[in-house]
Amino acid sequence: MPGTYLTTPIYYVNDRPHIGHCYTTVLADVLARFERLRRGDRFLALGGGGSHHPDVFFLTGTDEHADKVVTSAAAHNVSPQAWADRNAEEFKKAFAFMGVTNDDFIRTTERRHKDRVTEYITALMKSGDIYEGQYTGWYDEGQEEYVTETAAREADFKSTISGRPLVKRTEPCYFFRLSKYQDQLCALIEGGTGYPYYQDGIPRTPGFSVRPDARCSEVLGRIRKPAILNDVPVSRPVTADPATQWGIRIPGDDAHRLYVWIDALFNYLSTVDTPDRRKFWPAAVHLIGKDILWFHAVIWPALLLALRHSSPEFDWVKLPRMVFGHGWWVSEGQKMSKSLGNFIDLEKLKAYADKYSLDALRWYLATQGPLTGADADFSHAKFVEVYNADLANGLGNCVSRVGNMIEKYFEGKVPPAAPLDANFNGEGLTSSVLQSVTIALNEVDVAECLAPGMHLVELVDNYIAETRPFTLAKDMAANGDRVARILYNCAESLRIASLLLSPAMPSKCAAIWKAWHCAPPVAPLDQLAQFGGEFSLKPGQPLGKPDALFMRADPAEPPPS
Ligand code: MSP
Repeated sequence: MPGTYLTTPIYYVNDRPHIGHCYTTVLADVLARFERLRRGDRFLALGGGGSHHPDVFFLTGTDEHADKVVTSAAAHNVSPQAWADRNAEEFKKAFAFMGVTNDDFIRTTERRHKDRVTEYITALMKSGDIYEGQYTGWYDEGQEEYVTETAAREADFKSTISGRPLVKRTEPCYFFRLSKYQDQLCALIEGGTGYPYYQDGIPRTPGFSVRPDARCSEVLGRIRKPAILNDVPVSRPVTADPATQWGIRIPGDDAHRLYVWIDALFNYLSTVDTPDRRKFWPAAVHLIGKDILWFHAVIWPALLLALRHSSPEFDWVKLPRMVFGHGWWVSEGQKMSKSLGNFIDLEKLKAYADKYSLDALRWYLATQGPLTGADADFSHAKFVEVYNADLANGLGNCVSRVGNMIEKYFEGKVPPAAPLDANFNGEGLTSSVLQSVTIALNEVDVAECLAPGMHLVELVDNYIAETRPFTLAKDMAANGDRVARILYNCAESLRIASLLLSPAMPSKCAAIWKAWHCAPPVAPLDQLAQFGGEFSLKPGQPLGKPDALFMRADPAEPPPS
């Protein structure tokens, strides 16, 4: 199986971490944990650390060369670098809090990134795909910035700040020859539609796919002819103003620096551009939000095509297999905004984690988020509903019921695994469940990856309701074998469910493993999850009770704050 490289966007270091950042990063974390689980890995305690699988590489980081970093730093009386250092730390802490197990954290002000980017730009200048030209646009002299044609027209060609007329200005600028790659990009994206990127572990699409379908159509709509892709400006001038001095210089021309987006996109490549990490390229998935689709689905692959063509040295630079653009969270039905005060920031997320557990928060984000379709609502009522249904009354209750019965009827020891129940085909069940997980994983459908685990819990609930072991147990002399068989099936199915739920809820699942003495060893998922197989619950082994996993929540209680 090829190595798997998963990325999140790198976040503007000026922002405070909020639900948007945490969402994408938790999604990527669930995928990374699934990928490690699939291959066989030591299970990671919540909060990271431990052994990460050598064939899975999960990257997140911060985007630090934006002009506003300089302005904010000045307002706080510190250097831009010190300001970036401080805020990058906040992102690292936020993701550690969210239980994220990234393998590296790239910061674009790091030397390892800047040096690589300078090499890439040099190669692109040599090949002529980055060239010096003239940029002409409407300029606001008071603000010292260009205004787009549309914005200028809307403001009647006057500054929205000072009211003074905008001026047409022309200056030297470096461009990327995007126009040259239009046809190739179109063909690649069209060729990548509708296919899973892996089938039976083998990549199926030769190049590049944009997912989900709606995002793919959106991109194709903008790049298919008669649409025309213009070359894009990739530099900004350097002047005496300190704000213009922040960023990576255009190689050999100190009067220009690289536009922050171009610098940022290259993080995905620069981080793995070392002898021991190149094997991870191309990335399996760039997970992003829909607002930054254009940069990832058009500019980025074009830059990579250009780099690959620039010199044999970059032969290894293939296109990522997939760009996946999710939707946005809204808050209680409204767009989040600072002025409405409804921003779901890290503090709010922490309040939910404190009250309902971090695993419950991760579960809600991973299963109820705006993954494939429309935007999703973070609503307190919905959170409590999902929490009670899936976790308190679902997983938590089922684990405790089965544990209680085993304690009561079998002295807290796994009952003998008598021949399988004719009505309960454990092996068939788990192999079909594993198949659904694999398909969903290949499609980056995180909610669908987790659904089979919860489905197993429901099956156990239904099986208990149908077979009524608690009634049969009233006459253990007559029904003891039958009760043993039923409870073995239940416990073994829950063991498998806990494996499949662990990428979203690592600490609750670890609590089950601890109490049940079934912490999984390093082995691939299909072996671990074999019903009654090598790693199954063994008759006679003690099966204790984990502390209550999820207490029922009262829907009438106000949101935590
Ligand atoms: N720095 C750029 C990305 C460069 S990647 C080479 C950037 N940073 S960001 O911090 O502004 O945003 C990062 C991500 O957060 C985006 O994918 C964006 O979609 C996501 N979100 C911001 N608000 C969001 C929601 N309300 N909901 C879900 N995700 C949202 O853009």
